[in-house]
This record gives sequence, structure tokens and C-alpha cells, in this order.
Amino acid sequence: MTAPPRSPVHQTVVARFREEFGAEPRCFFAPGRINLVGAHLDYSGGDVLPMAVDRGIFVAIRPRDDDVIRLRSLDLPQRVEVRSGEIGSRTRPEWGWAGYPLGVWHLFEQGTGKGGGFDAWFGGDLPMASGLSSSAAIEVVTAIALDALFATRLERQQIALLAHRAETGFIGVRCGIMDQFASALGRSGQVLLLHCAGPRWEHVPFDPAACEVLVLDTKKPRHLSKSGFNERVAQCANVHEILRTHVRDLPHLAAYTMDDLEQSRDAMDEVLFRRARHVIGEMERIRTGAAALRRHDYETLGKMLDQSHESTRVDYEVSCDELDVITDAARGCDGVFGARLTGAGFGGCAIALVRPGASSAVGRRVAEVFRRRFAVVPGFDLLRVGSGPGEVG
Ligand code: GLA
Repeated sequence: MTAPPRSPVHQTVVARFREEFGAEPRCFFAPGRINLVGAHLDYSGGDVLPMAVDRGIFVAIRPRDDDVIRLRSLDLPQRVEVRSGEIGSRTRPEWGWAGYPLGVWHLFEQGTGKGGGFDAWFGGDLPMASGLSSSAAIEVVTAIALDALFATRLERQQIALLAHRAETGFIGVRCGIMDQFASALGRSGQVLLLHCAGPRWEHVPFDPAACEVLVLDTKKPRHLSKSGFNERVAQCANVHEILRTHVRDLPHLAAYTMDDLEQSRDAMDEVLFRRARHVIGEMERIRTGAAALRRHDYETLGKMLDQSHESTRVDYEVSCDELDVITDAARGCDGVFGARLTGAGFGGCAIALVRPGASSAVGRRVAEVFRRRFAVVPGFDLLRVGSGPGEVG
């Protein structure tokens, strides 16, 4: 595994820590992720194909002798101070972003029996709340740092599961495991093929000389992302229950076939039918997409991104005009293999797979189309396959 990236953010969190707390911290990094194909499959027991990117969250951190926890961020205003014993099992509105590290600490303390306090400065070079998993990166970097500070020697899978429990139990988003696994198990030059039902995983090489990932940021805040997301999770649970009683008893929605779904069509309303059609169809796309990635066939992989976007737009209804326009504009450009929304949807970013060298022209063209339609200049960022998390020396 290569060392985590160096970034000006690393120097800044360390400098702020020294200034405010007057001591020498250790510094850790965890990456954000994009997901190539496998939209909204993780919580239905499906397969996903995320890739850790070369951007993420840094933390400068140091344990204390008492049980006080002081948390600061370069990017967000809340400055939180709390005693470890006062945290409880759910986040509080006034903690804002700090709920993520506090949730991880709470679960870490419960799971390992370690106690005490710490000071930490966080900072990132990943756009926040835009679908690149800044929250999973905060959780994973906190878990990695605590594991190192308290010498608990957790496996990467345990780190991922702990971070995931912080998100579902402490924060209250009913997400699947993809984001935390992508961040914790990221490897340089590799995409993670994660079978969420196990979980089991393998790493598949990505060739940066043949394909690049361009992030297209609509700048549209992700309205409804928490409520809309939890609603999709509940709908998938409902339709799974209907399939279990009407067709056959399989452990996950993603395990059913289109034939199973057709057989039980009359037992469900049209919305649930479309939600399930997305999940089952996306499983077919991920099989094709993963096979294409293995043979470095980025044309076919790109087509799977296009089809995935269409299905999330029509059947899963998590897209929006901005994401549709930006991905359409990208598809119309030379050198683009395919494009789709990334993360939960409802706003935020899309990704396009592009031939190396093509991204500047794609950016210019897409910006023109998007600005004409929404009077907003979108953001562009060329991302590389990142390393996994770790200590930054
Ligand atoms: C969010 C969730 C993930 C996953 C994606 C959709 O990022 O945190 O668990 O469900 O949405 O693919």
C-alpha cells in the first residue's frame, strides 16, 4: 500500500493544532470515494464498485490525560468540547459535523474498553456533502487514529464496521456499508468490488493511462438526501418482504431476478415495482461493469454508468434536473465513456469516465451548457485512484 497523499491541508491541520493546543499531534488521512456502478445496492445486499480517491479528510490528533474531547474543523464553524462520559448514544444537533467523530469515539470506547479524551483538528480537500463520502472519511479517519493512539490493532474491516455503526446508530442515516468499506479498504490503483451481502471483497486494477474520473459538481445542495434516502431504504425493505411472501425466501432484495419481480407484480404498487426493478437491473449492470473493468474495457464500463444513471433517474427517482443536464452534456462530448450521479443523489456531484487528455475540453463544454440552463458555473475535478487510509508522516 502506498502512503496517503500529501496535501496542504495536512500542513494546515497540524499548524492549527500546534497553535491552539500547544503540543505536537500525530496526523492521519482517510480517502473519500466515488462509486463506478452499483447505485443504492449496498443496503439491499447487492454488489458495488467503489474506488477510494486521492482526496479525503486529515486529522491532527493527540490523546489527553483527562476525559475531555475538543474537536475543531478547518471547514466548519462548530467548536465542540464535551466530556467523554456525557456523549450518550445519539448525536445532538448542536454538535453538527462533530457528531461523526463523537459517534466513532463512543463505539470505539464501548468496543475496546479504552477511555480518556483527546484533542483533534480536522480538515479535508474533498467537497463536503456532495456525494464523495466526506462523512465516511471523517468516521474512518477517526477510527484509524484512535486505533493507532490506543494501540488496539483493529483490522481494516473492523474499522469499516465501526465507522458504519457510527453513521447508522449514532447519526441515524440508514446507509449501507459501501462508503466506510471503500474508505477503509482503499488501495492504490485498485477499485473495490464489494459484495455487501457477505461482506466479501476483491480489488480490481484500474488503469489511469486508459481512463480518468472527472467529477462534475452541480453545486446543488443535496436537499432531502437524509429523508429521501431513508425512504428508499424502507421501500426496499417493503418490496423485499413482498417478494419473500409471494415468490421465494431469499435473504436480500438484490438476490431476486426480473422473473421473480414480474411474478409478484400484482402484489405491489407501481413505485415499489420500479424501486425493485432498479435494484435487480443494477445487479446485472454491475456484473457487466465489473467484467469490463477486469479487461480494461472502459467503453462497456461507461455504458453501464449511463444505464445506471437512467435507472436512478426513472425507477429509483434520486436524480434531479441538474444531475440529468450535467451528465447528458458530458455524454455528448468526445472522449467520454459514460456518466452518472454519484453517492445518494438528490443533488451534489456526478462522475464521468473520460479518456486521458479529454477532460479540459469536456469541462469547458459542460460548463457552457450547464451555465446557460441554470446560471450556475459547475465545478470540475480530476480525481485519481487514491491509497487507503493511514498515518501521514
Ligand atoms: C450513500 C450511502 C451509501 C450508498 C449510496 C448509494 O452514499 O451512504 O451507503 O447507499 O448512498 O449508492
